[in-house]
Amino acid sequence: MGDKRQQQGAVRAVVQWRGDSRARRDHFVRLFADRMLADEWTGVLLLDADFRIVEANPMAGGIFGGDRSAWAGQPADVWAETLGLPLPFGRSLLQGEAFRNRKLAWSKDGVSREVVVDGDALVSGGEVIGAYLLFHDVTPWMMLEEQVRRSDRLKMIGQVAAGTAHEIRNPLTAIKGFVQLMKKSFDERQMTKEQEYAHIVLSELDRVQELVGEFLLLSKSKETKLSSMRLGYVMREMMPMLRNEATLHDIVLLYETKPDLPPVLADKEMLKQVILNLGKNAIEAMGKGGRLLIRERHGGPALSGFVAVEVCDSGPGIPKAALDRIFDPFYTTKENGTGLGLSICQRIVHDLGGRISVASSEAGTVFTVLIPCVPSGPGGQASGGGAFPRDDV
Ligand SMILES: Nc1ncnc2c1ncn2[C@@H]1O[C@H](COP(=O)(O)OP(=O)(O)OP(=O)(O)O)[C@@H](O)[C@H]1O
Ligand SMILES: [Mg+2]
Repeated sequence: MGDKRQQQGAVRAVVQWRGDSRARRDHFVRLFADRMLADEWTGVLLLDADFRIVEANPMAGGIFGGDRSAWAGQPADVWAETLGLPLPFGRSLLQGEAFRNRKLAWSKDGVSREVVVDGDALVSGGEVIGAYLLFHDVTPWMMLEEQVRRSDRLKMIGQVAAGTAHEIRNPLTAIKGFVQLMKKSFDERQMTKEQEYAHIVLSELDRVQELVGEFLLLSKSKETKLSSMRLGYVMREMMPMLRNEATLHDIVLLYETKPDLPPVLADKEMLKQVILNLGKNAIEAMGKGGRLLIRERHGGPALSGFVAVEVCDSGPGIPKAALDRIFDPFYTTKENGTGLGLSICQRIVHDLGGRISVASSEAGTVFTVLIPCVPSGPGGQASGGGAFPRDDV
């Protein structure tokens, strides 16, 4: 008896579902559309038949920046021009010219962005009533790809450099030894002019030796000895060197430390070299006068697992066209530069498992170095006694 009633109930439900199927379907489609508009990964723009923006979801606002509420009613091409976006499609979209995965790349305030776009017309009753555009931000992938490309290039140059540097180093040591002997005998005979020549030769040899050393550092992944350390401690050790340079150039050096930073996992000498190189570049860019700020940062989802050091200068900035090249070995705009400073920084930071990036405008340049924190949990406890030796206390 009870079974029968249950069956009747089920039949009624099916009948009702069939009757409502259109309404339910519409409801599901509506839910899906709302979900797409709220999506945090896809930027959506809806256009009307006049190519004007009808709707932009929050993610589109996040990707392109600016006041999203002011976009409604603007023709898409005018909107793009205002934001400096080279749109990879035109009004032919409304003639049903659908496309997929078109690249849209632009840069703003020295920061490059890249998205891929899908677009198609919206048709109702055989008539085009508008179009939709979907944007996917691929900037992180592009950056990763660029880093891999750079890293490959660096590796190749490194191999050539390593071979050459090695061959140069041996005769160099012999030459230096003999010039030192010559200088000694000039000293003994008080041959002042020759003494001076020998002195010049020796200092030039020192420079060659230094260069060769840099080549070798660049070429072989020098064994990095990672240990747990306090960033502030490393910075304080290094700061006097930078302060000297800054004072010589009338530059105000500010160091903004952050209390309670978690310990980082790094190689102290290497880390010092990175910050010194960046500081030196900043001072050289500013010439005489200016402000060099070295700042520690931590916290927030973007820095999860890392501590950041920012090296900010008030120099003239790096032209957009040069931004892609500054990490290339031998790229330099300085008369006496080797163009190896930043490639070495990049190499070191990669070896540490960190990241290095740059943002530049006419108001100055900021290099950001992310250094991995000591992993928390068993074996990697930051509070000491873990798997890593400590040198910070
Ligand atoms: N803070 C900065 N402001 C402006 N330009 C910069 C800055 N840092 C680097 N650059 C540019 O990047 C180039 C490459 O820097 P990198 O440190 O690799 O080599 P370099 O400084 O020219 O030579 P070296 O480091 O051997 O003395 C510089 O020549 C300069 O044009
Ligand atoms: Mg440099």
